[in-house]
Amino acid sequence: MCAKSGLGKADMAAPLLSVSNLHVGFATEKGLVRAVDGVSFDLTEGQTLGIVGESGSGKSVTAKTLMNLLPSYARVGGSITFDGRDVRAMATEGERHFWGVEMTMVFQDPMTSLNPVKRIGEQIAESLRVHLKRTRSEAKDEAGDLLQQVGVPEPRKRLRQYPHELSGGLRQRVVIAMSLACSPRLLIADEPTTALDVTVQKHILDLLDELREERGMTMILITHDLGVVRGRADQIMVMYAGRTMEQADTATLFSQMRHPYTEALLETIPRIDMASHTRLIPIPGMPPELVDVPDGCLFSQRCRSCSDSCLTDQPPLEVCGPMHVCACHTPVGTEAGAAARAANREAGVTPAGLDMGTFTAVEESA
Ligand SMILES: Nc1ncnc2c1ncn2[C@@H]1O[C@H](COP(=O)(O)OP(=O)(O)O)[C@@H](O)[C@H]1O
Ligand SMILES: [Mg+2]
Repeated sequence: MCAKSGLGKADMAAPLLSVSNLHVGFATEKGLVRAVDGVSFDLTEGQTLGIVGESGSGKSVTAKTLMNLLPSYARVGGSITFDGRDVRAMATEGERHFWGVEMTMVFQDPMTSLNPVKRIGEQIAESLRVHLKRTRSEAKDEAGDLLQQVGVPEPRKRLRQYPHELSGGLRQRVVIAMSLACSPRLLIADEPTTALDVTVQKHILDLLDELREERGMTMILITHDLGVVRGRADQIMVMYAGRTMEQADTATLFSQMRHPYTEALLETIPRIDMASHTRLIPIPGMPPELVDVPDGCLFSQRCRSCSDSCLTDQPPLEVCGPMHVCACHTPVGTEAGAAARAANREAGVTPAGLDMGTFTAVEESA
């Protein structure tokens, strides 16, 4: 296994999707925004990759790069291969039937994908007619079947309705139906439930899971909530400030997490064994600006395990166990990590100047 080229290369079938050393920058007035900085992963057919990180980590930019949806001023480096084909070359060659057929995406806000002045049925049918050359009546029939599959009640009636006549949850089901119309091999779901009610969220996530299973689809599930991918993803990549901080199969990530950022993310989600009034501790501070990024680890300013070298040397992504990579000088569960944390506790402050008192409540509940 090689950290640089993603996980699992040696012992798995050829991956359906292989992303290697992906870089995406945006030239802005302030300078080059390094939105994605050297991300690599392999995804085996039929598996789900969870991409997790706070807002601004580069999750959506990664997804949009795969979907060929970046603005023209984006600068992209690295390679993306899908079933042996060069995805970036398909983009420049103007390949029309790859996106929307083999690789599709569901966005956070269903209205990103829906046209407010077109009937639901026409919108689903359009994709079938454009990509699969279905006739008008065939497409209409299939659209009704698709609505049924995604659990929309009274599908025939819904076909004639406009998006504003549906609830947020139903709209997202319609968008999922649209994304499934041409039977994609890879579905990217970017925070598909973030805009929805808590009660609806679970239904939509379970629906995606069922559809993936039934269709043998491969999936990338993007979320800021580590709790969402627990039990749903086969492997998880934790991103921060455009970089991969840690990546492992899901069970390993939860049982043997190494990165203090992963640990901090986990502490922001409610635990079943916590009293409902327990206050969850947010991660102190904010992610860095991605222009003129400082030397060292980009999480160091917010990290309770920060050591001197974290401020000066960027930790490389290294193998730390079977199918497990992490970019940290002072990982959780290691001597170096425990020593750094003990020293910071003793000093009351980290080398980056973060008050260790911020973490007292977290550590007491652990
Ligand atoms: N079109 C763009 N132009 C300039 N900067 C952008 C553009 N799109 C995204 N970014 C920046 O890239 C970074 C990553 O954004 P994004 O991938 O949307 O984060 P996430 O989805 O993890 O919340 C952010 O700092 C964001 O401001
Ligand atoms: Mg996003």
